[in-house]
Amino acid sequence: MKQDQGMALSLQVNGRTYEYAGDPAKRLSDVLRDDLGLTGTKVGCNAGDCGACTVLIDGRQVCSCLTAVAQASGRSVTTVEGLTADEALSALQRAFHKHGAAQCGICTPGMLMAATDLLSRNAQPSADQVKDALGGVLCRCTGYQKIIEAVLDVSKSGLAPLPAAGSAVGARTPKVDGVAKLNGREHYGADGIPADALWLRVLRSPHHHAAFELCDLADFTAAHPGIARVLCARDVPSNGFGIYPHIKDQPVLADGVTRFRGEAVLALVGTRVAIEAVREDEFPIRYTPLTPVMGIAAAAAPNAPLVQPGKPDNILLDGRVKKGDAAAAFAGCAAIAEAHFETGFVEHAYIEPEAGWAERIGDRLEIHVTTQTPYMDRDEMAVVMKLKQDQIRIVPTACGGGFGGKLDMSVQPLIGLAAWLLKKRVACVYTRPESMASTTKRHPSKIRIKSGCATDGRLVAIETEADFDTGAYASWGPTVATRVPIHASGPYLVPNITARGRAYFTHCHPSGAFRGFGVPQGAIAHEAMMDELADKIGMDRLAFRRLNALKAGDATATGQVLAHSAGMPQCLDALKPDWDKALADCAEFNRKVKGKRRGAGLGCMWYGIGNTALSNPSTMRIGLSAKGELTLYNGAVDIGQGSNTILTQIAADALGLPMGQFRIVMGDTDLTADAGKTSASRQTFVSGKAAELAGRDLRRKLIELTGAASDAKLELHGSVVSARDAQGEHHCDLSPLPARFGADVLRGEGYFDPPTSPQDADGQGVPYATYAFAAQLAVVEVDCELGTVKVLDIVAAHDVGKAINPIQVEGQIQGGTIQGLGLALMEEYLPGRTENLHDYLIPTIGDVPNMKCILIEDAEPLGPSGAKGVGEPGLIPTAPAILGAIQHATGVRMRQVPVLPHRLRAALKQAETR
Ligand code: FES
Ligand code: FES
Repeated sequence: MKQDQGMALSLQVNGRTYEYAGDPAKRLSDVLRDDLGLTGTKVGCNAGDCGACTVLIDGRQVCSCLTAVAQASGRSVTTVEGLTADEALSALQRAFHKHGAAQCGICTPGMLMAATDLLSRNAQPSADQVKDALGGVLCRCTGYQKIIEAVLDVSKSGLAPLPAAGSAVGARTPKVDGVAKLNGREHYGADGIPADALWLRVLRSPHHHAAFELCDLADFTAAHPGIARVLCARDVPSNGFGIYPHIKDQPVLADGVTRFRGEAVLALVGTRVAIEAVREDEFPIRYTPLTPVMGIAAAAAPNAPLVQPGKPDNILLDGRVKKGDAAAAFAGCAAIAEAHFETGFVEHAYIEPEAGWAERIGDRLEIHVTTQTPYMDRDEMAVVMKLKQDQIRIVPTACGGGFGGKLDMSVQPLIGLAAWLLKKRVACVYTRPESMASTTKRHPSKIRIKSGCATDGRLVAIETEADFDTGAYASWGPTVATRVPIHASGPYLVPNITARGRAYFTHCHPSGAFRGFGVPQGAIAHEAMMDELADKIGMDRLAFRRLNALKAGDATATGQVLAHSAGMPQCLDALKPDWDKALADCAEFNRKVKGKRRGAGLGCMWYGIGNTALSNPSTMRIGLSAKGELTLYNGAVDIGQGSNTILTQIAADALGLPMGQFRIVMGDTDLTADAGKTSASRQTFVSGKAAELAGRDLRRKLIELTGAASDAKLELHGSVVSARDAQGEHHCDLSPLPARFGADVLRGEGYFDPPTSPQDADGQGVPYATYAFAAQLAVVEVDCELGTVKVLDIVAAHDVGKAINPIQVEGQIQGGTIQGLGLALMEEYLPGRTENLHDYLIPTIGDVPNMKCILIEDAEPLGPSGAKGVGEPGLIPTAPAILGAIQHATGVRMRQVPVLPHRLRAALKQAETR
């Protein structure tokens, strides 16, 4: 334990005594992590907002980030590491494992500690008592439901054995990498930083837009012992990065001008103490603030100043889809609905801030980092550093949540550059305010939509214009501008469509990828149209959607004929009993109760899986060593959604061996093949298919080696493969075989690139190989006096093709749904004003409604065992369903989200005066 100057303290942690002689005011969380090496305790905010740092002191939960170590002196401290006796998981940990209560796992230690406190006082709590006790810990992944189920089930939990060979697909099996998330041993970006690493601190622009001059950096460095170097724009070999190969418009370090508040300007590298000691006003920089272009209206105004030179009219991209003649078709419609909608910035709010460390090894650069996309990071780092791709190695740490926000680089170029120049290990961990101020957000939008239908309710035409604030740099703006017009009509058969999506540069944060790439914003608009048209022609809202739902054989907005797996009608049919009951229950409540109103609403969605009209491949490998070790080399990063488990299930069944015999290497660019990024709900469909093909490839080789029939049953015992067929048992000893692929003697490989085709000038083509479909029902209760909305029930019916692992699928739907609830009712990021988790509110466990998932399996023949994807679809229909329910309850259609109480109250008052 580190010995600093300070008061001697005695700490009892997990039953062991430690003497501590450092600063008595040091945060307990920092002492646990830095001094005692107990990194199971996580830090998500250092401000008492997230609860990730929760530990027990004398059996009661506390935020260790707000506890001075002196306050724990002489008392008993328990961390997550203390829950595991003799390597065995506790009953509570087993319950979490069984129920899939840990997705990314970064909140899990805090949740476990809070639950341990509760259960020590109340062995059989109610769901409400669980919600009360765990209310201080935020989870951004799970939607909390499985956490509640796990705590309620703790006394009964036993773990089922892993599925046998051939029965993994479809099994509700726990995560293959779940145990480390439960016992505190999982290493996230901030957990494995070498003790000898220098630290890096970024100076960020306090202005939305400014010119700046640097003072003498050499003088500054000389005056600050412990600072090894100050990095600025001229140190970066190629000072531009970005998602698209032809758009590298975001500087690693700003060069003379800043374009958003929070942009990186300088980086200090040195000892942790030295860089933290520098005051902001000491930094050698002089700013001249400039007038910023804030928001879409300002960017689109005539003669608006240009945010980026050479980008006329501040437009990044103008995407469109045109089918038929919408303008003419409106003339023949029996009913027309038209409205504007507005959404704001939304923060990803993953509980793990960006973190990592880098090291130069000879002429190579190794970066250990929390990321969703190691191969894109590798390629981007090669560009920035002017190195070859094979000179860069990305080693993903465990990822404590991403949701699209860790697709763009954050610490990578800074720590990589510093490590390269200084030839030392360099680490960086963003603070929560820094994470929120500097990273991408969901695109704010302004959407105008007009829809029309015939007298029988069939949709005739839809016209949409969607404008997005893409911020200072491109990031994923082009993806949003092209994806939104394709999805603008919703999951309905519409013969005439004109849809446009424009992304505008502004002096705001770069808007990027966030669960849905603009489709959630578009769904708010098209679902409002469905409600309004149904009302206008006097049809039930569900029946109206059912009549128009896309089905196999129909042509989409881009002219793509859906050959199969279009389960929109089945989703709506599955909701019908709950819908009828919800309408009746709401009517009865509203008859009896004054001052509060209940309403039911629907939201439907479709979502193209994978990249839009672009190649989108994945390669998976399975290796078998001479000792009989079976390894899935998996370049797809599991960000909590469970891809490590799902890919293993698929590979195991394709190979014909039990999934329990696999080990996994994940994401390391030196050891795996490129599986593409973890985004666009693509890993189950694309990488899953590649894993299936890899399993089949290795199986074929083993069958050949053993001389057995192709349908033989395989077994692996040590180095011996046995294959039983109608003729008997065949054996092959692997041990004499030469290693040909690293340590492996055999390798199976699978490659899959979903078939798509480019879109023409009218957006016609085949942008996606398959689509997910979903319908959700929401029941809300509105307090008409306060303007508050409580979501009581969500029923979610999702066509996933095939649920490879129903626990993980439900977890994605529940987690996405609760993020959708946040989008609808509470989340609004305001640059400069909500850069922390107490001003920026995300749903807590107390906001969770009753949730029911209905899985529709309309198999997609291209996918592994028929599977598609579900990562983003869980979120998309939720906000539309809630907005529809608010309208049903109150008669008021809210056209701006989030529906904050003051907005709803004002709308209700306005409606009263009409
Ligand atoms: S890290 Fe302590 S509450 Fe967030
Ligand atoms: S599992 Fe809770 S934050 Fe990821």
